[in-house]
Amino acid sequence: MCGIVGVLGKHEAAPILVEALKRLEYRGYDSAGIATVNGGKLGRRRAVGKLVNLSDLLVHDPLPGKSGIGHTRWATHGAPSVSNAHPHQAGPVAVVHNGIVENYRELRAELAENGIDFQTETDTETVALMTEFYLKSGLSPVEAAFKTIDRLQGAFALAFLFDGRDDLIVAARKGSPLAIGHGDGEMFVGSDAIALAPLTDRITYLEEGDRAVVTRTSVEIRNEAGEIANREIRKIQLDQTRTDKGGHKHFMAKEIAEQPVVVAEAIRSYLPTGSDRVVLPDTDLDFSKLDRLTMVACGTAFYACLTAKYWFEQLARMPVEVDIASEFRYREPPITDRTLALFVSQSGETADTLAALRYCEGKADKIVSVVNVPESSIARESDLALPIHAGVEIGVASTKAFTCQLSVLLMLALKAAADRGTLDDDALADHAAALRGLPTLLNAALDQEEAIRKSAQRLSEARDVLFLGRGLMYPLALEGALKLKEISYIHAEGYASGELKHGPIALIDKHMPVVVMAPRDAVFDKTVSNMQEVMARKGKVILVSDDDGIADAKDGVWSTIRMPHAHASVAPILYSVPAQLLAYHTAVAKGTDVDQPRNLAKSVTVE
Ligand code: F6R
Repeated sequence: MCGIVGVLGKHEAAPILVEALKRLEYRGYDSAGIATVNGGKLGRRRAVGKLVNLSDLLVHDPLPGKSGIGHTRWATHGAPSVSNAHPHQAGPVAVVHNGIVENYRELRAELAENGIDFQTETDTETVALMTEFYLKSGLSPVEAAFKTIDRLQGAFALAFLFDGRDDLIVAARKGSPLAIGHGDGEMFVGSDAIALAPLTDRITYLEEGDRAVVTRTSVEIRNEAGEIANREIRKIQLDQTRTDKGGHKHFMAKEIAEQPVVVAEAIRSYLPTGSDRVVLPDTDLDFSKLDRLTMVACGTAFYACLTAKYWFEQLARMPVEVDIASEFRYREPPITDRTLALFVSQSGETADTLAALRYCEGKADKIVSVVNVPESSIARESDLALPIHAGVEIGVASTKAFTCQLSVLLMLALKAAADRGTLDDDALADHAAALRGLPTLLNAALDQEEAIRKSAQRLSEARDVLFLGRGLMYPLALEGALKLKEISYIHAEGYASGELKHGPIALIDKHMPVVVMAPRDAVFDKTVSNMQEVMARKGKVILVSDDDGIADAKDGVWSTIRMPHAHASVAPILYSVPAQLLAYHTAVAKGTDVDQPRNLAKSVTVE
């Protein structure tokens, strides 16, 4: 959460910082701020709310200077307010921070004992005040920043800027990502390469515990032990960082529409043309030597894992445990050396998922991750990282990353089935054909957008919505409910349809829309019985099914959404499209901020 940037440039820093922050706004948008050094003096501008408020402020009250740092905030400690907005300044030092300083109370107490007052409720102000304290004790800016960093516990990416030091940024990374961008007589710092893409294509990723002393012409990186560390300069691919809406009204709409293409790319990368066998970059991975699979993730990625559990169990007869990372990491579950630990994350930076991965290091046989950002911490700390090829996802609500995660997980389950001999050649060919046909089906699902929009119009008037599904459609019901609540702010719950009568059916009345995800599969009749139970209590059913399903069960439903026929194994990937479009059009009808819903951020780098 939170995005940070820094620039030691040749031109005015403020517009460069604001542009870079725009590309980081997906990380939080509770407030934004910048600080620059001009004529040797630090100056700051900060505004509550989205970046546009800071841009407006800068029009009326410009901030000159060619060196600066900037921040877009997702509030952790202290409400969104100007005084809690970054950069935090204490005398001659300004600091921007992404993460949480866990021992800030202890540090605050120590500073208070030295007669130091606080102006904000944030953990970050402690960092600025501590650095000022060390500066006053006679340390140089770099020494003071380093000594402060040594005192911090928790997760952080930090950038420090100093009065009188027009050519210096000190940067540090622990737990939260940070990249250095190399220009020609200019240098940049950013939470990710996307922020820096218009400025340079030469990037150095800091590693855990690294701290960097950055000037316009040099970067000196030291590891946590204080030793000089040589970190590679990588060329980033600019097309990987394209962030325009491509003619759509929202990034989310664009990302939903991209799914046939990106899912095809994901499938092509693991299922070579002319073969029915899944090929992974690491031929070492042999599921026949494994007893168990443990999958860990958060949010939408967790629902992808929940779906994959059905695939691994049914297709590869493999015992699977699926866990939410924030629970897994503190439960201390036993992991044997015949367990494959699998982590799924779009960003590859989710703090809880990363911590869960680290818990499995040295215990599991192998650590595998399914990620969208190949340079991310989770990818780099895995024995094998499997990219999902979704491309940059900007909309805070995950869409194309979900379907690409599902596609890669299904292929992994097929590889497991082949290794363990649980599917014969014909069955493997059948699944491979279903996967290859999926992009066409996704296009057909997208063609239903107008019908979905009409159903969404009705949903937008509801206070609560239930999503029901059985078997492979159950995790999708959970995902459909999550999508709806996060962008439309309508309360929604997903349930296994068979579970309805064990409690939630008490909620059903004529005001309750119930979205039923039910392709005409082996459990269709059972789901339809549950749907009848809803309609008997006047619940308003939106049935999402194929021609056969709709023909069989449409009587009495509120509306229908027609999907093409699909092989059972790929159905959850296909039915993701109506779930996403329902949420999207409901949010549009309600006029909420689709791409940047309140209280959320794209990359959750704090616990
Ligand atoms: C919901 C959503 C979140 C993320 C979750 C994990 O639309 O996007 O629930 O799925 O925060 O994020 P990653 O996949 O980056 O680990």
